[in-house]
Amino acid sequence: MHRLSTVILAAGQGTRLKSKLNKVLHPVCGRPMVDWSVAAARAIGSDQIVLVVGNDADAVREHVGQGVTFVLQEQRLGTAHAVMQAQKAVEDFGANSVLVFYGDMPALRAETLAALVARQRESDAVFALLSVIAEDPMGFGRVVRDAKGKVQAIVEEAAASPEVLAIRELNCGVYCFDADWLWENIQRIEPTPPKNEYYLPDVVDLAASAGESIKVVCIDDVEEIQGVNNRVHLAECTRILHKRINQEHMLNGVSITDPTSTYIDVDVVIGRDTVIYPNTHLRAGTVIGEDCSIGPNTIIEGSIIGDGCTVLSSMLEGARMDDGANIGPFGHLRKGAHLGEGVHMGNFGEVKNSYLAPGTKMGHFSYLGDAQVGEDVNIGAGTITCNYDGVNKHPTVIGRDAFIGSGSLIVAPAQIGERAKLGAGSVVTHPVGDDMLAYGQPAREIRKMERVDEDQD
Ligand code: UD1
Ligand code: MG
Repeated sequence: MHRLSTVILAAGQGTRLKSKLNKVLHPVCGRPMVDWSVAAARAIGSDQIVLVVGNDADAVREHVGQGVTFVLQEQRLGTAHAVMQAQKAVEDFGANSVLVFYGDMPALRAETLAALVARQRESDAVFALLSVIAEDPMGFGRVVRDAKGKVQAIVEEAAASPEVLAIRELNCGVYCFDADWLWENIQRIEPTPPKNEYYLPDVVDLAASAGESIKVVCIDDVEEIQGVNNRVHLAECTRILHKRINQEHMLNGVSITDPTSTYIDVDVVIGRDTVIYPNTHLRAGTVIGEDCSIGPNTIIEGSIIGDGCTVLSSMLEGARMDDGANIGPFGHLRKGAHLGEGVHMGNFGEVKNSYLAPGTKMGHFSYLGDAQVGEDVNIGAGTITCNYDGVNKHPTVIGRDAFIGSGSLIVAPAQIGERAKLGAGSVVTHPVGDDMLAYGQPAREIRKMERVDEDQD
């Protein structure tokens, strides 16, 4: 049985990010860099994933958790030295092939890694390496070939002659090795002055001089190998992955009117024929149905939105909208807000930890917190649930078909009956029964209203 181990190098200190956070924990499109690497390793069916980390990587270990083997590279002595730290774990596991790449290249595609692994496996090559043709050499090592096109060496930029510097085929730092060959030969790599680091690309020299064959998978999309060493690179990587995510959604039937100003995190789900307007941010944990209109100027995070919904210039966090609900402009749904089917919430509304049953309307300037609102209720402009007494939060229940007059203050805990009617400016401090008309400050029950049976012809 063939076993593939993937070794991800992430022992770099990331000093140029000038951050308190470990480099590989910096998020790109809503997902920490290390998770991009691990996800790619999983996507190609790695049987073992080994993460080489440096000191101060406790937060990385804690974040990644189970399913990944951690090895420590105490001293950062170069890329070959980093791989040597993984030798015992990989040998104990019994891998036949070892894929190596960096934890700070989140745009690397799983398809590319899979192609490299396949290339090594299907040939008798001791390893296959990934190269890219690029106009800007980005400080990468150059791939030097002989007259017949056989790879001879990787020459680092610092050691390159003008002739070699002119080569446009670059070493991406991604390799898939035959495991036995790797462990026999990696020990033979000598440190390179002036920093005396053990350079992994030196395997090319070793193989070439022993007459071994080396395979190359050459890509032409430089964006894929954008590494992250500083915050400029981080922004660039984020741009590349946002572009890729947007393209995927568009190819799956989502309209994005201006992809350059639409920021969708990885793993966000969007249904067909939904239209996303500019300056919209869709963050992790968001699921949007079909035929919705989202944005412009909208932020949605961790929220579930059904089919046929409209969200205009609004913010949603941890909220839910059922089919046909619409909000905005300038609405705010906070954690636990749930708008039932067809609910309308107009401008300057805020809802937190509340359910509004189907058909309820809340047109203007209102706040509902910790409330359960029945079907077809009309919440007048400027209605406020006073849910906080300075110490505790209290619930409000409003029955179906109730009519809440504009400017009402509902002091919780509060109960307003079905079909009850509150006059404008009421201050509710006592329960209002079913079918009661109430108003005043504090609101008093004035009379019981006659029920109108709407179903009568
Ligand atoms: C390396 C290659 C170069 C290639 C380039 C592509 C070497 C010597 N050179 O250069 O040919 O073009 O990648 O990006 O390999 N790391 C460790 N431990 C170490 C050293 C590095 O974990 O001791 C990790 C770093 O976290 C980093 C990655 O390996 O993610 C690359 O290391 P770096 O020293 O930056 O190599 P490059 O200069 O990029
Ligand atoms: Mg370096």
